Amino acid sequence: MCGLEWLPMLTTRLTARLGIRHPILSAPMAFAAGGALAAAVTHAGGLGLIGGGYGDAEWLGREFAAAGNARIGCGFITWSLAKNPSLLTQALSHAPAAIMLSFGDPRPHAHEIRAAGSALICQIQTLAHARDAIEAGADLIVAQGTEAGGHGADRAVLTLVPEVADCLARFAPDTLLVAAGGIADGRGLAAALALGADGVLMGSRFWAASEALTHPNHQKAALSTNGDGTVRQRATDIARGYDWPPAFTARVLNNRFVQDWEHRPDEHRAMAESLRADYQARVAAGDPDAVGVWVGEATGLIHDVIPAAAIIERTVAEAEAVIARLGSLRIAG
Ligand SMILES: Cc1cc2nc3c(=O)[nH]c(=O)nc-3n(C[C@H](O)[C@H](O)[C@H](O)COP(=O)(O)O)c2cc1C
Repeated sequence: MCGLEWLPMLTTRLTARLGIRHPILSAPMAFAAGGALAAAVTHAGGLGLIGGGYGDAEWLGREFAAAGNARIGCGFITWSLAKNPSLLTQALSHAPAAIMLSFGDPRPHAHEIRAAGSALICQIQTLAHARDAIEAGADLIVAQGTEAGGHGADRAVLTLVPEVADCLARFAPDTLLVAAGGIADGRGLAAALALGADGVLMGSRFWAASEALTHPNHQKAALSTNGDGTVRQRATDIARGYDWPPAFTARVLNNRFVQDWEHRPDEHRAMAESLRADYQARVAAGDPDAVGVWVGEATGLIHDVIPAAAIIERTVAEAEAVIARLGSLRIAG
């Protein structure tokens, strides 16, 4: 019993397949989604995912421990995981409900995940990625639109999600579809269901949850801007020395750091190594103007830092209200 039994329930194929109460997943956000956030999402009736990110065995062990016995999942950045696949074996030793792979070819890791009894979630940004995910035998595909915080690509949710829904209906009807990117309230959840998704994955909204590992200064900066205030860019990866495939950029706040560096990548690359320690010190200090602040266009829909359970409760109640209102519209004629 989680104490939330009175909440309305939006049951979909996703809730049935994953055995959860609400069709809401929290994104496996590197450096932000630790065990406390993942467990809070799961306890509130969604499925929480730890952000395995670029892979740090000690961090991963600590965050799985922080989640206690909550049934959670874990996500990895696939091109990075390929350099150190033992991290996947480590994560699977905790019997996660699901492993989510994003940004790279999921096929080399699919067998190990499914053999361990975890659901395989593939986050995709294009139809070509969706076809690779189907080939990998994905249980769930997360179609991520360009609105999303963090890394992603160029397609928008409004066309990507229904196009992937059509593709799945034709080629993989048992594979479920989850929408991601710009979803931070019940309007977004209702819209995602209308587009053919079975549920949503929210990142930015949970990045601004009380349980997230996000620096409070960054949350404050994000709350004080609106959806116009983010941009896709590469300066943050150059600063950190991450060798991202060129197809992916990262959405962050369009702050002084981005404006200083984004238009001069060659100069930045030449200097980045000598500036790295200073950049990391500014990350630790939480200066929201001097480093990347990882949030998506949904920042304009986020007005408070609240517990994950309150986010889920509010999102579900709002979605129910939207669906009821749309259901009561009269069709003239
Ligand atoms: C702070 C932050 C970090 C993220 N890190 C990762 C990551 O490590 N791996 C990943 O697959 N996706 C990552 N993402 C993207 C999410 O998986 C998801 O697609 C995105 O948050 C959805 O859009 P939204 O932010 O508008 O909710 C990150 C997103 C944010 C906001």
